[in-house]
Amino acid sequence: MKNFFASCPRGLEETLTKEAEHFNFEHLEITRGGFHFKTSPLNAINFLLETRVASRVYKEIGSFDFRNEKDLVKSAMQIPWTKILNPDDTFKVTCLLSREVMGKFRNSHFLSLLLKDAIVDTFKEKAGKRPSIDLDHAQFPLLLRIEPSPKGKGQLRGIVLVDLAGYSLHQRGYRTAGHEAPIKENLAAALIMNTNWDKKVPLYDPFCGSGTFLLEGAMIRHHIAPTYINLLDRKEDQFAFAFERQKWFQKSPEIQKPFEQLCDELIARAKNGISHAEPGEFHGSDIKADPIGMLMESWTNLGLPRKSLRINVANALDVKPDDNFPNGVVITNPPYGVRLEEKDERLEQLYYDLGEALKNNWKGFNAYLISQEAAYRKKISLRTSLRMSFYNGNLECRLLGYELF
Ligand SMILES: C[S@@+](CC[C@H](N)C(=O)[O-])C[C@H]1O[C@@H](n2cnc3c(N)ncnc32)[C@H](O)[C@@H]1O
Repeated sequence: MKNFFASCPRGLEETLTKEAEHFNFEHLEITRGGFHFKTSPLNAINFLLETRVASRVYKEIGSFDFRNEKDLVKSAMQIPWTKILNPDDTFKVTCLLSREVMGKFRNSHFLSLLLKDAIVDTFKEKAGKRPSIDLDHAQFPLLLRIEPSPKGKGQLRGIVLVDLAGYSLHQRGYRTAGHEAPIKENLAAALIMNTNWDKKVPLYDPFCGSGTFLLEGAMIRHHIAPTYINLLDRKEDQFAFAFERQKWFQKSPEIQKPFEQLCDELIARAKNGISHAEPGEFHGSDIKADPIGMLMESWTNLGLPRKSLRINVANALDVKPDDNFPNGVVITNPPYGVRLEEKDERLEQLYYDLGEALKNNWKGFNAYLISQEAAYRKKISLRTSLRMSFYNGNLECRLLGYELF
């Protein structure tokens, strides 16, 4: 059993916990922006491959107590670094301060540099050669978390974790071009998981942009692991995840074989799911043609058949459900003004009109909107069946649900 930490967008900690239920983690403890847990390394890797909600999964590699910046280096040198890294490995350090200790330090970047010094000094003392820094593709992307020590008396605890994937897990690999305001993939998946969509009825997004909700919906419906494209590419590149190049994993043949089997199983499960895709499962539209082109490209990158997606360029206010298919669920992220810089009055009118369009055109559907501005959402004259708060970066947003009779 080892200690791990999974991070996620704030407000989605419960969704992440629910998703993790069948992994049977022990000592699961929810905190702001994620949860700590204990499990076997193989089970943590399995979770990393399958989580749709987590941003990163970290493995704890050591901890130390210290009093101030001056004694951080010496204290961090207690961690047996030469057993953890090889001299020709690469690493980088980022630092995160818990709320309680934030006022104690000038900046967290300086603390990252001190941990780097501790690693370098240990190698200089014991091995002569030292691992080097790689900010883009480090084998050991380290996170130093600083919090009050449970020993009290003003002591601090530095916990060092290594990022197992080495990239933010929202990067599913299906996007080839950037839309101007796409929602993060793990956030979109988590929001879908909070709707009452049963995966069988059609999913609609009338402000679909680059189609993140539809793509994540298709991955959920067809059991396509969020790391699927990475797993496919791995066959050629060999290493898809940072942990595959980390010493602890390379020295564990008992994990490597089941990991390979797991990768093969996830690829086979996705291909089987995709082969069962049916016409008109997903419906997207946007007032602009360009983002729809991006959606189609991503759809193809995932290997999904074109027939399962209905798309058109249209004003969301004019869109109506397709009569050839059963009633379904709408989930959408209308323009919200901050990044797209729309005029406020126009957006107020758009939200009002959208409420009316939902009422008149989408009877028998459940609709879910992502809203950031209270001023806009108040313009929708429908009773909410769900209000959920979450953060998109630093922006506090709501997921609003409506049952349309
Ligand atoms: C916040 S973005 C949606 C981003 C999308 N969720 C994604 O993942 O890319 C809002 C989208 O609404 C579109 N839009 C703005 N006004 C519209 C309207 N009246 N009807 C349909 N689409 C509209 C914009 O072109 C933009 O792509």
